[in-house]
Amino acid sequence: MKLLALETSCDETSAAVLTKRSNQIVLYSNIVASSLPLHAKTGGVIPEVAARKQIEYMLPVIKQALRQAASSFEDIDAIAVTVGPGLIGSLLVGVETAKTLSFVYKKPLIPVNHLLGHIYVNWIEKQADEISLPALGLIVSGGHTDLFLIDQKHKIQWIGGTRDDAAGEAFDKIGRLIGFPYPAGAAIEKAAQKGKKDIFSFPRPLIHSVDFDFSFSGLKTAVFREVQRIKNLDQQMINNICLETQTAIIDVLIKKTLQAAEKYQVKSILLGGGVAANGTLTDQLRKKIDQQLPKVSFFVPARSLCTDNAAMIGATAYFHKQTVGWKNVNANPQLYFS
Ligand code: KG4
Ligand code: ZN
Repeated sequence: MKLLALETSCDETSAAVLTKRSNQIVLYSNIVASSLPLHAKTGGVIPEVAARKQIEYMLPVIKQALRQAASSFEDIDAIAVTVGPGLIGSLLVGVETAKTLSFVYKKPLIPVNHLLGHIYVNWIEKQADEISLPALGLIVSGGHTDLFLIDQKHKIQWIGGTRDDAAGEAFDKIGRLIGFPYPAGAAIEKAAQKGKKDIFSFPRPLIHSVDFDFSFSGLKTAVFREVQRIKNLDQQMINNICLETQTAIIDVLIKKTLQAAEKYQVKSILLGGGVAANGTLTDQLRKKIDQQLPKVSFFVPARSLCTDNAAMIGATAYFHKQTVGWKNVNANPQLYFS
């Protein structure tokens, strides 16, 4: 089944063409246009600006994805589209485009939860059975930090998530406090490499709780207090703050993930979302899994597939492929795990 997938939940406009060949998802094209540079100036995504850019980019991105895949609408079997969660204005562009294409070209429509996409992207270019189930998914993005289980039939069970800021949001807000442009995650990771250990001591919120919830807003407050106390931060102090911030976030993520993997006896751990691009997180998580749960396999997407893209929506559609009549597909900004 050849799929055209669309993703427009936030500030990325993306279209991908995929197929499934001998039980393996093959990616023909995955075009991503982003309005991120426009939001860097304002320190965060302005929904109105993001939605307007979605309209501008949508059709050229679809055309380019089809061209690169040497495909046309005629040889597409179904259209997968992100229906939520996300920004309403942005979501509407992808959803209404997909509905129109579905109606005009008489193609089935598959609505996809963006959050699942961040984890199912791990199946791209792999045999379906290469990832053993049950699996534990950890989404770490700018908007979400969630842990959920995928059983043998791909039934989803959410087991915990952030009570306030997401992991990526913590990187971004702390970055702003120390003068980094938005988004700050990658810059904090880079600065942390030059940081000295044990100069600062920030909290690891909820690290000892028995549930699988996260909370990162207290960490932001702790950094805020230090920044106010010191007043004139020099470069080395900034590097030290970056190292301790990153370590605090990673410590909590690793502790909760291993705790959940052990409790639910999973065979695989799948990481996804923009923060999964953090090499320190993936290296340390891999190391801890090897040491403590050597029978569990660990999967992390290629860096280019960690941030929002349509390939992840297409990959999810192969496993959750209930088609819905175009009249019944609607954008749902609040969509979560059901
Ligand atoms: O998944 P994503 O593209 O957007 C959402 O759907 O939210 O994630 C973006 C987030 C931002 O918060 C950004 O700071 C963070 O991912 N990020 C990183 C790194 N690269 C991106 N965080 C930590 N380390 C990185 N290397
Ligand atoms: Zn995302």
